[in-house]
Amino acid sequence: MSLSDRLDRALSDAIARGQAQPAPARLASALHYTVTPGGARIRPTLLLSVAKACGDDRPALADAAAAALELIHCASLVHDDLPCFDDADMRRGKSAVHRAFGEPLAVLAGDSLIVMAFEVLARAAAEEPARAPQLMRILATRTGMPHGICAGQGWESEETVDLRAYHRAKTAALFIAATQMGAAAAGHDLEAWEDLGLAIGEAFQVADDLRDALLDADTLGKPVGQDDLHGRPNAVAELGVEGAIARMRDILAGAIASIPKCPGEAELAKLVTAQAEVVAPLRARAARVPGE
Ligand code: IPE
Ligand code: IPE
Ligand code: MG
Repeated sequence: MSLSDRLDRALSDAIARGQAQPAPARLASALHYTVTPGGARIRPTLLLSVAKACGDDRPALADAAAAALELIHCASLVHDDLPCFDDADMRRGKSAVHRAFGEPLAVLAGDSLIVMAFEVLARAAAEEPARAPQLMRILATRTGMPHGICAGQGWESEETVDLRAYHRAKTAALFIAATQMGAAAAGHDLEAWEDLGLAIGEAFQVADDLRDALLDADTLGKPVGQDDLHGRPNAVAELGVEGAIARMRDILAGAIASIPKCPGEAELAKLVTAQAEVVAPLRARAARVPGE
């Protein structure tokens, strides 16, 4: 079974459990709407790729970890789009959850998905009592305070923001969760995998800043120009387009160098290298934008 089929199955099982009767029908639909058809699913793909590179001796546990991580990511986007955060109307080419279902159900959908993520891991713990608790701890650390997404979005309420700390917590945290949970699910030491997740996450956020500055809403399926609109620190404002592209390349080179020794090292290097491919269309677009 492909990695994407494994993830689809694990996610639909979790969502179906959350919709079991009796459930409030509109909230149950909002959960499905949030997770399906989904976006690029880069975090769980990275998680399963690391698990595979480490031997993937407990595939059911790796699948549970991948589903839990994607549920947290989807929840974070629902909350991020709310009027009290980014006030974004569109996500993944369709109406944001609060636009489709209203704010109360969007808050509850996000909350339910966060809880569901930990329920998925708790269920897996019945079969894997030795490894599952560590996965819960990693996911909790990278979701909350002070090292997770909550911290990341918390920076948005500070007067001065350190761009690196902001990106680390807002975005890189879930990439660190991806590499560490993939390794831990396969019984490998998780400490060695932090640097790779951090580097991929930082590069991903720089790419997202470039897309926000250079692409259009139809191409991205979400509003653009958000960083400027909300006065958020971002790599393009700090470094310019060429500077941000150079920074992304540097970070990805460091990422490849940081891949720990494991049987699937070469495959992982290919996955990281592929991240750099986002640059070509961005550079072409920058050439057409006056002033860049
Ligand atoms: C968007 O993440 C939010 C950021 C951290 C930049 P993705 O670009 O991975 O979103 P989806 O899941 O593919 O829609
Ligand atoms: C969203 O970050 C990342 C979260 C922690 C939810 P952004 O606001 O930069 O990403 P988009 O543009 O909404 O996807
Ligand atoms: Mg946003």
